[in-house]
Amino acid sequence: MTAQNIVAADTDARPRGDVLLRASDLAKHYPLRAESLTKRRRVLRAVDGVSLDVRGGETLGIVGESGCGKSTLGRCLVRLTDITSGRVEFDGQDITTLSARRLRRIRPGMQLVFQDPQASLNPRRRAGDIVAEPLLIHRYGDAAAVRRRVAELFDVVGLASAHLDRYPHEFSGGQRQRIGIARALATSPKLIVADEPVSALDVSIQAQVLNLFADLQEEFGLTYVFIAHDLGVVRHVSDRIAVMYLGEIVELAATEALYSAPAHPYTQALMSAVPEIDDGPATVKGAGAHRRERIVLTGEVPNPVAKPTGCTFHTRCPYARERCAVEHPRLTETASGRRAACHYPLDGQR
Ligand SMILES: Nc1ncnc2c1ncn2[C@@H]1O[C@H](COP(=O)(O)OP(=O)(O)OP(=O)(O)O)[C@@H](O)[C@H]1O
Ligand code: SF4
Ligand SMILES: [Mg+2]
Repeated sequence: MTAQNIVAADTDARPRGDVLLRASDLAKHYPLRAESLTKRRRVLRAVDGVSLDVRGGETLGIVGESGCGKSTLGRCLVRLTDITSGRVEFDGQDITTLSARRLRRIRPGMQLVFQDPQASLNPRRRAGDIVAEPLLIHRYGDAAAVRRRVAELFDVVGLASAHLDRYPHEFSGGQRQRIGIARALATSPKLIVADEPVSALDVSIQAQVLNLFADLQEEFGLTYVFIAHDLGVVRHVSDRIAVMYLGEIVELAATEALYSAPAHPYTQALMSAVPEIDDGPATVKGAGAHRRERIVLTGEVPNPVAKPTGCTFHTRCPYARERCAVEHPRLTETASGRRAACHYPLDGQR
């Protein structure tokens, strides 16, 4: 792929609206207990200087290995957790430090769908009541209006309204996730942050739930931030993808551009690890005629409490040079128009 068509592929995958969600230099640090009275309190930098825009109607995928800060970032974006520093704007409003009362007012517009519907749905409440809860909190209307809305939501997500009175354990895993989605949709949000919404489901059910997400986006013009560690899943649903490593975004690109020519060595390594489904187990997932060099990720993910100096990936990067251990690369545009945090981006050269 030439530099020119990488730039072309990096433009909108579909027409998108104005910026709905913007994070600027966002950080979430967890202070840890000091090991002894004489030692300094250590800090775990779960999210560390993340900047991104999400436009109305698009799906931004977020991928990365376990513990890289995906869920923490998702929770910061919808202000389910306090933010250490930086800024989050939603629908033109700075929501970084809103009081609980003012946050409640914007809450209907942004919702989170959790990974494990088993754990996120109250087992002692009936499905209809679970879906009704946000409507009651936000004073949707009288009891009859709430009942009508819940039945409508059941229909929208493909659940039978005859099952309104069932308890979560009486549904299958896929159906439970549909309850979680119906609850998230109840207040007609503009933005849904979905944190690994299909990871806990059987592979055979995953496609159905992913198709539901796609249908709902089409029908209601929803904007998604879609978190997943599974590159296949995230590729399937995303217009653009942000790749995270140790709390930072190391690459941000349109989905096909990212898959056909990753600019960051970590992205390349992550994708090399995905087996080719259609082409036998010995090959790697290739994009069209572009067969990728197989890079094996060696070593463990470093401890986020003691992140490596310079480029945090330098301890595992096959292309690391001296500069990488001392100078931190920022997420910037590379020579071929990609956005990567690397001193020596691949730019289709390797
Ligand atoms: N409440 C907390 N207190 C202290 N550390 C936390 C807290 N929540 C998360 N962490 C740490 O922050 C880092 C990022 O965690 P996070 O759950 O956001 O990662 P993740 O990418 O979602 O991982 P996974 O793929 O396993 O879900 C991890 O090192 C985790 O141990
Ligand atoms: S900055 Fe250096 S160590 Fe980091 S990803 Fe790029 S080449 Fe590898
Ligand atoms: Mg997570």
